[in-house]
Amino acid sequence: MILPPEEKTYHPSDGLFTDAHVPDFDAYLALYKKSTEEPEEFWADVAQEFYWKKPPSGQMLQYNFDVNKGNIYIKFMEGAKTNICYNVLDRNVHERNLGEKVAYYWEGNSPDHHQTITYNQLLRNVCRCANALKLLGVKKGDRVAIYLPMIPELVYTMLACARIGAVHSIVFAGFSSESLCERIVDAQCNILVTADGVYRGDKLINLKKIASEAVERCKERFCVVVKHHAFRTNTDASTLKLMTILLFLLCVLQTPWDESCDIWWDDLMDGVSDECEPEWMDSEDPLFILYTSGSTGKPKGVLHTVTGYMLYTSLTFKYVFDYHHDDVYWCTADIGWITGHSYITYGPLANGATSVLFEGVPVYPHVGRLWEIIEKYGVSKFYTAPTAIRLLMKYGREPLQRYDLSSLRVLGTVGEPINPEAWLWYYDVVGQQRCPVIDTFWQTETGGHVLTPLPAATPLKPGSATCPFFGVQPAILNEHGEELEGEAEGYLVFRKPWPGIMRGVYGNQERFESTYFRKFPGFYVTGDGCRRDQDGYYWITGRIDDMLNVSGHLLSTAEVEAALTEHPSVAEAAVVSRPHAVKGECLYCFVTLKDHKEFNRTLMEELKRKVREKIGPIATPDFIQNAPGLPKTRSGKIMRRVLRQIAHNEKDLGDLSTLADPKVVDVLFSQRCEAAA
Ligand code: PRX
Repeated sequence: MILPPEEKTYHPSDGLFTDAHVPDFDAYLALYKKSTEEPEEFWADVAQEFYWKKPPSGQMLQYNFDVNKGNIYIKFMEGAKTNICYNVLDRNVHERNLGEKVAYYWEGNSPDHHQTITYNQLLRNVCRCANALKLLGVKKGDRVAIYLPMIPELVYTMLACARIGAVHSIVFAGFSSESLCERIVDAQCNILVTADGVYRGDKLINLKKIASEAVERCKERFCVVVKHHAFRTNTDASTLKLMTILLFLLCVLQTPWDESCDIWWDDLMDGVSDECEPEWMDSEDPLFILYTSGSTGKPKGVLHTVTGYMLYTSLTFKYVFDYHHDDVYWCTADIGWITGHSYITYGPLANGATSVLFEGVPVYPHVGRLWEIIEKYGVSKFYTAPTAIRLLMKYGREPLQRYDLSSLRVLGTVGEPINPEAWLWYYDVVGQQRCPVIDTFWQTETGGHVLTPLPAATPLKPGSATCPFFGVQPAILNEHGEELEGEAEGYLVFRKPWPGIMRGVYGNQERFESTYFRKFPGFYVTGDGCRRDQDGYYWITGRIDDMLNVSGHLLSTAEVEAALTEHPSVAEAAVVSRPHAVKGECLYCFVTLKDHKEFNRTLMEELKRKVREKIGPIATPDFIQNAPGLPKTRSGKIMRRVLRQIAHNEKDLGDLSTLADPKVVDVLFSQRCEAAA
């Protein structure tokens, strides 16, 4: 495929966006100007459509981004009182008359399983769950851990927490029991909500077993269990029914149960009222904690608060997807990640949108599953990740041609840099050259999109996240912290907060400041490299710390190294990234064994298992290389640059004069892994 010159821009089709919220680039510039020059008025306007128990007044934004001037903090509309659950549900039902509108089309892992949930039903279910949590003693400020697959109960539980002022801490249901336990302990959660089991594709995962292992280690008080696998499997009409039932029975037999703390969800909800007065929260009360990998190894509990997050996710959703009332929107992310928090739950619901909530995986039971779902529900706004696009590209056009995709209007992407080839395939084949590809750059920490095109307004360049969203002020710095003007490449930072930015690392102010603010005082440091072109467009070049982005998920090399060195045969480990055709990046691990230990296939399998157990399947290494020695400087520091070059098979290694023993490099090159382990 011929890639377009960088200067070539793509414009949405004429007539596709006749009623766009931001119709052209000048309109974008005018709104952007207002958002940065008159932020108080800009956000006061946005706040108007929300419900306030006590409206915002006085100074809207207070902050300090400079570690030399004291503690870092961000406060937005402090003193105002509201409730985000009320705003995303009751307001739609009672003030906007959307009670009978569909909030979610839930589509299960198996195409036989689906459910429609209106705003009325959602509100009632959330209230019941909120009352049930209260019965268990949960109150404002308590933390609740949620380890659920993509089922409606996940949305009910998170909104129930928000309704009663409890802080949800959702752990992606692909994490291991150890990772789950670590997060439960760090956030001091008393309650865990999980499910018996779940099918991901044709693979059965016994979630309760993993949850019980986690709970045993950390002794939280209650474990509420949704009968998901049991309940929904019974209605399965697939040809695999007999096998499914057998597997189900196996799962039930293996489901550990502790009468003293385990409770079935259905039993807990039985007879509970479906009305629940919301807890009125201060704008700066915590809403949720979401863990993200940290470059020092231990995950960080990113903390978001009520009002800023509510306004920001709502506004970005409206503008970035050019949301209109009759849209059917679908984000394929998992709610266990920030994309799901902001753009499956809070942002779409705040706008009264109809969304698809998808439990499954893109290629089960067939490679056209995503396209089938788009046709089935008439999806108009679609949001996915480059890794999914690259995976589906492999199957060519044919699976798409079986379905009618003419409902599509906007195609979003998130999670990692999108390579121009994948961008063009998304644009040409999925969007049939009709729909703009909206490359949204953001992070768990930013709460919502920070660099992004707007569908009708921004001329597009494949691979660029284009321009800042309203209120966001990016800058590019060099290594010395000097700001670079015009065309430049360096560290991507932000000079001022926007409402949705994180408020801290849960329980660890020091880590908050050292991770994001100490390197360049006065700026929030993203950890990403970035280039700005002659038109002022931003191009993310990837992480510049020891983090890896595997299928859009950030992983810490230190965390994987710690897992590998737990194996009794391993003396030392170093992990770097290597490009991967579908995942974007994958893990390439160098391990140095202890004396007299043998490097063989069994060991490789054990090491992979170790990483899966410690972190989860997403962190499974693709390459494991025996490294009799690692390239180290005379002061003992591993030169990761050299390891990366070996993993990438780059023969020109540059200056190796600081290495204590340069011969190590030849040995490593000669034993380089060509094929995945
Ligand atoms: O490196 C950037 C990459 O994902 C990181 C944030 O990961 P996480 O907190 O897990 O949130 C992912 C979903 C918002 C960023 O620091 N990233 C995310 N979106 C893009 C991206 N890199 C390039 N282009 C993007 N659109």
